[in-house]
Amino acid sequence: MVGSCSWASLVFCIVFFPVFAQPQPPSFILNGFNGSESKLTLEGASIIRPSGALKLTNKSNYALGHAFYSESIQMLDNKSSPDSPKASSFSTTFVFSIIPPSSGRGGHGLAFMLSPSKKFAGAEAGHYMGIFNQENDGLSSNHVFAVEFDTVNGLNDDSDSEGNHVGININSMYSNETEPAAYFINNTNLKEDMKLESGDPIHAWIEYDGNFVNVTISPLKVEKPSKPLISHRIDLTPLVEETMYVGFSASTGEKSSSHFILGWSFSTDGTARQLNVSQLPVPPPKGKDGSSFDPQVIGLIAALSTVTVLLLGILIYFTLYKRKGKSEELEDWELDCPHRFQYKDLYAATRGFKDSEIIGVGGFGAVYKGVLLTTGTEVAVKKITQNSIQGLREFAAEIESLGRLRHKNLVNLQGWCKQKNDLLLIYDYIPYGSLHSLLFNQKQGLALSWDQRFNIIKGIAAGLLYLHEEWELVVIHRDVKSSNVLINADMNARLGDFGLARLYDHGTDSHTTNIVGTIGYIAPELARNGKASTRSDVFAYGVLLLEVVSGRKPIDSRNIFLVDWVIECHKTGQILDAMDPKLNSGFVIEEVRLVLLLGLLCSHPKPEVRPSMRKVMRYLNRDDPLPLIDYWESFDSRDELYLKFLEVTSDYTITKSHPSSSTSPSISYSSGR
Ligand SMILES: *[C@@H]1O[C@H](CO)[C@@H](O)[C@H](O)[C@H]1NC(C)=O
Ligand SMILES: *[C@@H]1O[C@H](CO)[C@@H](O)[C@H](O)[C@H]1NC(C)=O
Ligand SMILES: *[C@@H]1O[C@H](CO)[C@@H](O)[C@H](O)[C@H]1NC(C)=O
Ligand SMILES: *[C@@H]1O[C@H](CO)[C@@H](O)[C@H](O)[C@H]1NC(C)=O
Ligand SMILES: *[C@@H]1O[C@H](CO)[C@@H](O)[C@H](O)[C@H]1NC(C)=O
Ligand SMILES: *[C@@H]1O[C@H](CO)[C@@H](O)[C@H](O)[C@H]1NC(C)=O
Ligand SMILES: *[C@@H]1O[C@H](CO)[C@@H](O)[C@H](O)[C@H]1NC(C)=O
Repeated sequence: MVGSCSWASLVFCIVFFPVFAQPQPPSFILNGFNGSESKLTLEGASIIRPSGALKLTNKSNYALGHAFYSESIQMLDNKSSPDSPKASSFSTTFVFSIIPPSSGRGGHGLAFMLSPSKKFAGAEAGHYMGIFNQENDGLSSNHVFAVEFDTVNGLNDDSDSEGNHVGININSMYSNETEPAAYFINNTNLKEDMKLESGDPIHAWIEYDGNFVNVTISPLKVEKPSKPLISHRIDLTPLVEETMYVGFSASTGEKSSSHFILGWSFSTDGTARQLNVSQLPVPPPKGKDGSSFDPQVIGLIAALSTVTVLLLGILIYFTLYKRKGKSEELEDWELDCPHRFQYKDLYAATRGFKDSEIIGVGGFGAVYKGVLLTTGTEVAVKKITQNSIQGLREFAAEIESLGRLRHKNLVNLQGWCKQKNDLLLIYDYIPYGSLHSLLFNQKQGLALSWDQRFNIIKGIAAGLLYLHEEWELVVIHRDVKSSNVLINADMNARLGDFGLARLYDHGTDSHTTNIVGTIGYIAPELARNGKASTRSDVFAYGVLLLEVVSGRKPIDSRNIFLVDWVIECHKTGQILDAMDPKLNSGFVIEEVRLVLLLGLLCSHPKPEVRPSMRKVMRYLNRDDPLPLIDYWESFDSRDELYLKFLEVTSDYTITKSHPSSSTSPSISYSSGR
């Protein structure tokens, strides 16, 4: 047709061509194939089932079937450069289902194709998938582009072992690029494996934009993943002819499956229209291929139904059991961990780790809100991404034991899950946000009252006491700070992230620094020797007390330490000047003074002067009076000490922390949402 337009009539052609001749359809959509017989050319075993499903092969061995869109498609695009037309971009999406035999594995697979012809003389079944044969496989004169969905290993591997791959093929069954069937979970580099032969409907997208052929698959119930499984750079211009046919080919081999297409949309003019999933026919159940049985067979089946159901049940049980084990790739040590969650449950709970479910982000990953489908429980799922953890296996025992901690002032760790190199930690979900956000991000009118603050202070103390002294092991928190304290609906405090700071140790080079914690809360001796202890937790708790009473951050914008500033107030005899100006009434002076002095005592530079958490509880409950110590005498060397300390820790800030997550290497909840 290119030749039918001379240069003189070029304008005429461009403008009026569509009016006079029927242009090739740039796009079509078939939500199921009911009534589409006239639009398709079927060959071999292909038929359209009464349900509206297009069935490409039957259960015979070495069967093959083709189904092509009857009309050819203009595949050379001369719009941009009339002299050197290029392969037209195209986009297609379809839903397929490969139903294996009721026992054992099936074969082979199906392919989406672009071909100059709808006829494939001499094409063979099996590995050749009904497209090529031994003689023409690999010839550039084939002009065939195919994307194969193969359940048996390719030609290069005669073992017939499980193939389960997606491949891009040019003129040959030797693929240019293949990938095991899987899809990328949005916004991650994690792949979820898929089994092509599962019988479940699979959504596929193939897109060509002139530079890349992108192939994406996902289970029907998962939206299109944003990252394609295969992105193969290729220019199809030398391959395509002026017009091509588009369609599918499938074949069985020594083993056989039934291959179904349930819906198909195609376009050379922008993205193919989305299939309407609710209109698609449902594939027949596994083990059936949708053909009808004669009455005798039905009678037999009825008679044996009990046995069949029983056997099927056992079969399904074992298939599921096997599949589960496979997709999670458990190592032996993971098996006896009662707090281990299954990845698929967490995936479902967080709606596929959707961005919209993120409730907080920190340097090591994101925290998602989730609802466990089995129990309906709300949980927070913290996802710690690969590079930050090593030695996970050693740490697993520790996480397991942390999972047994239970206290009303702790954000209980419900469990954990390892997926590839990621660690997922599952916590109680606490809706109100962190103490940090309540103190610093609230509007004036919503300031915490004194009673609420005092209650929060006591709650944190109770949680820390439990970690330090009341549980079977001593657990050092290592990162006590206001953003790790979550506040529940009753305004009670719950301390989160306990014990986990150790995780981050594993990844660090011991010659640089092993300090984990947050600037402003790190005890001087911890900065010096890197050894965390219950006393360094008490130091951080002391800073936290001052923070809660004063409404000021541990280090302010002018780099002044809150502790130093409160000491200054105390020196002038006006320690109450340190009180948050938002607390204008409703406070008990004695309690405010007590908490400020206790804050100073706890954040004393000498660890031996700091009280234990049990003592702290007694002071807060006024069971014991605060010891009379000369607060400022011992602080003389403080400034120098702190300057050194700041030097050490600011190196740490630069090397370890995430720019967006304040100064903390750990993940904190944001107040948003
Ligand atoms: C572009 O291709 C169409 C279809 O083959 C043809 O009819 C038309 O004349 C061509 N246009 C130019 C500018 O070559
Ligand atoms: C499968 O299809 C082939 C080709 O049309 C046909 O010869 C064969 O009889 C069919 N087998 C069954 C079991 O329907
Ligand atoms: C990949 O595709 C090109 C055509 O672009 C073809 O010539 C080549 O043989 C293919 N390579 C493989 C490994 O199949
Ligand atoms: C295919 O994927 C690449 C990235 O690998 C992307 O740049 C390109 O835009 C994608 N093309 C289409 C048509 O989706
Ligand atoms: C993945 O991202 C794409 C594009 O942003 C979106 O359309 C799709 O719904 C997402 N899929 C899932 C499972 O969240
Ligand atoms: C999909 O099909 C259903 C049932 O025919 C219809 O109600 C719905 O509006 C369709 N959705 C779209 C997006 O076309
Ligand atoms: C196709 O048509 C048959 C009746 O001819 C009907 O039973 C079936 O539900 C239809 N399928 C769809 C997907 O509309």
